[in-house]
Amino acid sequence: MTEAFDLVVHNARVATASDCFAADIGISRGRIVQIGASLPKGVRDIDAAGRVVTPGGVDAHCHLDQPMTPPLRMADDFDTGTRSAACGGTTTVIPFAAQVKGQSLRAAVADYHRRAAGKAHVDYAFHLIVSDPTPEVLQNELPQLIAEGYTSFKVYMTYDDLKLNDGQILDVLAVARNSGAMAMIHAENSDAIEWLTRKLEAAGRTAPRFHGLARPMLIEREATHRAMALAELVDVPILVVHVSGREAVEQIRWARAQGLKVFAETCPQYLFLTADDLGLDDSYQGARCICSPPPRDRANQEVIWNGLADGLFTVFSSDHAPFCMEGDEGKKPGGTEVPFRHIPNGIPGLETRMALLYSEGVLGGRITLEKFVELTATNPAKAYGLHPRKGSISVGADADLVVWDEREFVLRNADLHHAVDYTPYEGRTLRAWPGITLVGGDVVWDGQFHPRAGQGRFLHCQPSSLLPQRPRAQS
Ligand code: URP
Ligand code: ZN
Ligand code: ZN
Repeated sequence: MTEAFDLVVHNARVATASDCFAADIGISRGRIVQIGASLPKGVRDIDAAGRVVTPGGVDAHCHLDQPMTPPLRMADDFDTGTRSAACGGTTTVIPFAAQVKGQSLRAAVADYHRRAAGKAHVDYAFHLIVSDPTPEVLQNELPQLIAEGYTSFKVYMTYDDLKLNDGQILDVLAVARNSGAMAMIHAENSDAIEWLTRKLEAAGRTAPRFHGLARPMLIEREATHRAMALAELVDVPILVVHVSGREAVEQIRWARAQGLKVFAETCPQYLFLTADDLGLDDSYQGARCICSPPPRDRANQEVIWNGLADGLFTVFSSDHAPFCMEGDEGKKPGGTEVPFRHIPNGIPGLETRMALLYSEGVLGGRITLEKFVELTATNPAKAYGLHPRKGSISVGADADLVVWDEREFVLRNADLHHAVDYTPYEGRTLRAWPGITLVGGDVVWDGQFHPRAGQGRFLHCQPSSLLPQRPRAQS
């Protein structure tokens, strides 16, 4: 007699990046072991009764417990961050091990492992942030870390404590090329932002809403073009993160038309928020929606929706960067309302990413279910070397699944599981939410959160399967 499955999800409407079909899913030892019709009962059973079942989400851009200069502190660590991920249907997160200038990259990675140890409820990998590309980093640390499974890194063109100049960006892109890593670029023109910020400050315009005026689209457009030109010079693909609207999209379409390999990411804030959310008057409430690039307008939202539907975007991430509104560690550093230049950038979104896109994208008729799966799970797993173990419903894949409930409800921060004291989407009506989230075959969310702190595993990433595989360079 054959051994019973540990768990069977019966009567699922399975959705993958390529197909939707009716099937049962048999799970043993944390993995999918059979997909078929009328599987026998398992040790445990879930009747999905015609409900949509997707791969668990892969959030490939989120910030958890990233070291900050005091008094700033991120509200979510690996406990609360991965708790909220699981309750929102995300079963793998890829936050950032960020190098502080002057610090070794390896020390940043070791510190970040300590921050994650024993806390994660879902599986996780790390991107690197390279802020100080010394000869040691370029020649030794970065290539070695890439070879050890940290196969992607982010570089910034803005933020004083993180930004690289063009020469430094060329240096790290050359490492990406030689070592087969995915380079993610935050594209905004730092000097132009500083120039505009000083002008606004001189005119007394320091309320949160002026953050948007200090970062108009042309600042993102110029930097996006420059980043792609630098990548062209080195002959390496790049992934432009958090693309916010038309002008950057046009640059990416143009580059692709020239034959350049450019991947693009966008985020919920560019579909669901506008500059108005930063404030119509000088109220400090707008601080809650300060992120960079800033949300644009409704016309730009349409451009982003079109880019999701037509393949311009490769991945859809949250860019969860969690800061509380109250207290002195978040949006009011030191407990006071400060000029916009000092308000930490970023908004929470790990838990709401999947449901927002499912509700408005799939059920709103803007994207197919297959496209939803591709953007939220399959492509992020491919882009960062975790596919097919993650982001797919296939035999051998980890049993990370979401059983969807399609029902209307009003989103309240009180019902979320992050440690942030607000959601930018408070009061929005959604049409779906994960009914059940499975991580490695464990029910981690079924309307109740079932903690599994420390059972989330660190994942060593393979080279991206979206990148051309080149023979490794001799050093
Ligand atoms: O405003 C943002 N996006 N904060 C998070 C850091 C980053 O640049 O992604
Ligand atoms: Zn960024
Ligand atoms: Zn980010």
